Amino acid sequence: MQNNKDNNKNNNEKNNKARKRKNENFFILAVETSCDETCAAVIEGTPGGPVLLSNIVASQIDWHSDFGGVVPEIASRQHLKVIDKIILAALREAGIEFSDLSSVAATRGPGLVGALLVGFAAAKALAFALDIPFLGINHVAGHIYANFLIQDEIPSPFLCLTVSGGHTDLIYFSDQVDYKILGRTRDDAAGEAFDKVARFLELGYPGGPAVEKLAASGSADSIDLPRALKDSGDYDFSFSGLKTAVINYVHNKKQRGEEIDLPDLAASFQQAVVDSLKLKVEMALEDYNPAALLLAGGVAANSQLRADFAELADSFNIPLFLPPLEFCTDNAAMIAAAAYYRRIRGESDPLDQEVEPTLSL
Ligand code: KG4
Ligand code: ZN
Repeated sequence: MQNNKDNNKNNNEKNNKARKRKNENFFILAVETSCDETCAAVIEGTPGGPVLLSNIVASQIDWHSDFGGVVPEIASRQHLKVIDKIILAALREAGIEFSDLSSVAATRGPGLVGALLVGFAAAKALAFALDIPFLGINHVAGHIYANFLIQDEIPSPFLCLTVSGGHTDLIYFSDQVDYKILGRTRDDAAGEAFDKVARFLELGYPGGPAVEKLAASGSADSIDLPRALKDSGDYDFSFSGLKTAVINYVHNKKQRGEEIDLPDLAASFQQAVVDSLKLKVEMALEDYNPAALLLAGGVAANSQLRADFAELADSFNIPLFLPPLEFCTDNAAMIAAAAYYRRIRGESDPLDQEVEPTLSL
């Protein structure tokens, strides 16, 4: 009896595998360990686009929050501790086995070198052992391709604003593949500004969500803060002056023995970031006349930013595409999506490819 059961089970498994092999669809496992989240995801590549089967994120926030930021050494060690379990969980949730995989992808950069190496080495080892293609993916490209996980009908050309802890890039895509960078930050990234201001105000890490929460009960026009480079005539951004303005404001108030209204300060700062971004995006919309506007990256989770950009896109009569919140911050689903668009063009990378902590788009 037990044998029959086992035989049936084995036959079913074989049939499933045969079905998967016959299927023209393919499975990509992606790993993302560029910063403080250990992530793995599986997508099924279908003729209609990438379909997400699993998306596992193990956050390290509790390990770093006492330090007010990410500690690289701790990040690498934590990734090492959990990477294999996270990969297994992604496969289990997707209902597939290692032998079903068609390719393995990992974030190549930008990011923390020791953190990147963990996911990159794990993915390469798998690709080698399974004898399947390996892909090293640009993290910033991943943030952009997160949009294609939920929406494959994004009209071209489109404009994408990527705003994360490490990047603030304004990119013009003539189609899904060809792009040019119109502008980028000259100093701090937008998310970095949120994190640094939050750290200065002792609001905890990560700064963005903490500032946003406080800002909800403040008034955005109560404190006059700069909108840097607003007349620079290019598409570049700058946020370090804004951070300094917040610090100066607090010091001046303290020197005069005056109370600081933290919600007002948070709301004014948040609005200054959003306005600075909006100014340049509006200029690019006028100059390039794209068919759609996309937001990507962790700061795209900010509700003030989402609301103001929805209004902006509306005023140009074009759709705004925003990844759902869980695809805004770091995840491996976005890396798998970016890998999908490279795989369908037949691309892969050699196993001796190295991580690039400062990789640009
Ligand atoms: O994309 P991401 O997860 O990691 C990087 O690639 O950097 O972005 C993290 C950044 C952090 O700076 C964090 O403070 C910011 O995104 N962030 C936010 C919000 N949620 C995350 N910034 C503003 N408002 C938010 N709700
Ligand atoms: Zn990111």
